[in-house]
Amino acid sequence: MEKSKAKFIIDGKEFEYPLIEGTENERAIDISTLRSDTGCITLDYGYMNTGACTSAITYLDGENGVLRYRGYPVEELAEKLEFVSVAYLLVNGKIPNNSERKEWSRLLNKHSIIHEDMRHFFYRYPEHAHPMAILSAMVVSLSAFYPELSQHRPEEPEEQLDIAAARLISMLRTIAAFSYKKSIGEPFVYPQHSLKYCENFLNMMFSSPVIPYEIKPEITKALNVLLILHADHEQNCSTSAVRLVGSARVNLYASVAAGICALWGPLHGGANQMVIEMLEEMRAKGISAKEVIEKAKSRDTAFRLYGFGHRVYKSYDPRAKVIKKVCDDVLKVLNINDPLLEIAKKLEEAALCDEFFIERNLYPNVDFYSGIIYRAIGIPKEMFTVLFALGRLPGWIAQWKEAREDCSFKIQRPRQIYVGPQNRHV
Ligand code: CMC
Repeated sequence: MEKSKAKFIIDGKEFEYPLIEGTENERAIDISTLRSDTGCITLDYGYMNTGACTSAITYLDGENGVLRYRGYPVEELAEKLEFVSVAYLLVNGKIPNNSERKEWSRLLNKHSIIHEDMRHFFYRYPEHAHPMAILSAMVVSLSAFYPELSQHRPEEPEEQLDIAAARLISMLRTIAAFSYKKSIGEPFVYPQHSLKYCENFLNMMFSSPVIPYEIKPEITKALNVLLILHADHEQNCSTSAVRLVGSARVNLYASVAAGICALWGPLHGGANQMVIEMLEEMRAKGISAKEVIEKAKSRDTAFRLYGFGHRVYKSYDPRAKVIKKVCDDVLKVLNINDPLLEIAKKLEEAALCDEFFIERNLYPNVDFYSGIIYRAIGIPKEMFTVLFALGRLPGWIAQWKEAREDCSFKIQRPRQIYVGPQNRHV
């Protein structure tokens, strides 16, 4: 909705641009014609102030710690729904009714088993291959096995996109569990139609030919909550990667594979593994919270306090609040006394009263406590970011779909200010 104008004065000449306002009163200056009008571009390192799209999927207010999917507070969704319903909500814009839920489950079950030839790929990876490398390669490979449903063409029927979305959501879980089984040298466990999404994943991860996995509702609930809390986060690094790659009209699988690669980084989804490694090192070497905080503040090292800070949140990350509570509950129910939880709590306490962290509004983010829950469930730390990817997938799909349906959808192609040598000759 256009409300008023912003004025730019360049070389004494005035230019007017519309101010755009979103449904939650967020404001933007629409500078789409700036370059053609003035010859100037904007320069915004790290896109701190740049909106790349309008979106109706997720609302995030970083100052007040608010996160909503399609208008619903994430805390409410985590309490009342299962992950697959939230996935449906993100992708289709509404909470499914009974018949939609049934049809969605049917599609997820139908497309849960990967092509038999893809199963052989797992055997060719080296023993210690990181599961994120396997995950991204497997996801892009889906475009080779299911090309008929993956072309990024707006004229394709909606039904085909539903199948591609369901296939990806269901198969990512199978690929994730298979990559774990491969890493520990155990036979693959196939998905079962009688099990729900999270139960199925845990069964595929932890059942073995000799010991069947005992499903505990508290664990399934915790996993559902974690996946829901990760399900979307508007235009973060990996989602922007999905949108950017998708803007070249590449298929859904290839776009999501790009998102998985971006997520892997330690400043993004890879931070959950880094947090546990940091806590393990503190425990093993007896390093104090104060020492870690001093190291994180130092300019002599690239080390950061992993699981702290966020580009958008300048108050407590609402996801971290829920996760901290789930963490206490799960450990209590499972009767686990994880020494890393104590270390993490001390570290949080010390950081929250340190001037450096206070001045910069650095609070725990979604990755700070999630790893301790994953550990309690039995998930190894190399798999933590894979779990983040499982959770984020519906968001990636929803954002890719929204971009595709946007009539102003353009290939994303930022500009630059060239600072290299001027014309010269050999
Ligand atoms: N430890 C120490 N210093 C920090 C941290 C941290 N975790 N986070 C930010 N800072 C400092 C940073 O050094 C800078 O200081 P100065 O102003 O003196 O140069 C200031 O705070 C602003 O940081 P920034 O890097 O400019 O902020 P950003 O918005 O570009 O980065 C971030 C956001 C998440 C990459 C950063 O906070 C970080 O590296 N955190 C640790 C990694 C992490 O936990 N990532 C997971 C994020 S949540 C999951 C997800 O959605 O990705």
